Amino acid sequence: MKRQIWALMTGSMMTIGLFGIASQAAATATVEVYKSPTCGCCAKWVDHMRDHGFTVNTHDVGNKEIRKKSGISESLGSCHTALVNGYAIEGHVPAPDIIRLLKEKPKAVGLSVPDMPHGTPGMEGARSDPYNVLLIKERDEQRKDTTIYNRYDPYAKKAQPAEPVVDSDKNSSVMRLK
Ligand code: CU
Ligand code: CU
Repeated sequence: MKRQIWALMTGSMMTIGLFGIASQAAATATVEVYKSPTCGCCAKWVDHMRDHGFTVNTHDVGNKEIRKKSGISESLGSCHTALVNGYAIEGHVPAPDIIRLLKEKPKAVGLSVPDMPHGTPGMEGARSDPYNVLLIKERDEQRKDTTIYNRYDPYAKKAQPAEPVVDSDKNSSVMRLK
């Protein structure tokens, strides 16, 4: 028993040492997740949070009530609502954005990824869509009034210019910018 506790302690100390201050915030934070008992993607998001060092307690009572109580409007709604260090987190928000929030501590209600975009943590599959993580500054703020906290765009790389054009004109000795 003692050995197990020691192993746990050294394990978490190593985690803190390896990942630094950013994970320290996560390792010590407990997340209360309100979700439906039958939601598969919610359970996967909980796993994602645990993988990033969070302690997670789940409440299988749905999230409509807690969402409203937390000051998150329906226009920002998703399948689950989480509470952590005084912030509300709605939907499939990536753990690194939550770790950043807990580190920066802005005056805000919390973060939301409205609906359930394909490719978010817990919603992985064949399809990945671009999505925004929104910062909710005021209670009951509408989706259009929020601030973009982070953006994920799997197409961004494809949009960048391809290989630089090689000048094949042998007679030209002029350096061209384009
Ligand atoms: Cu979901
Ligand atoms: Cu969910």
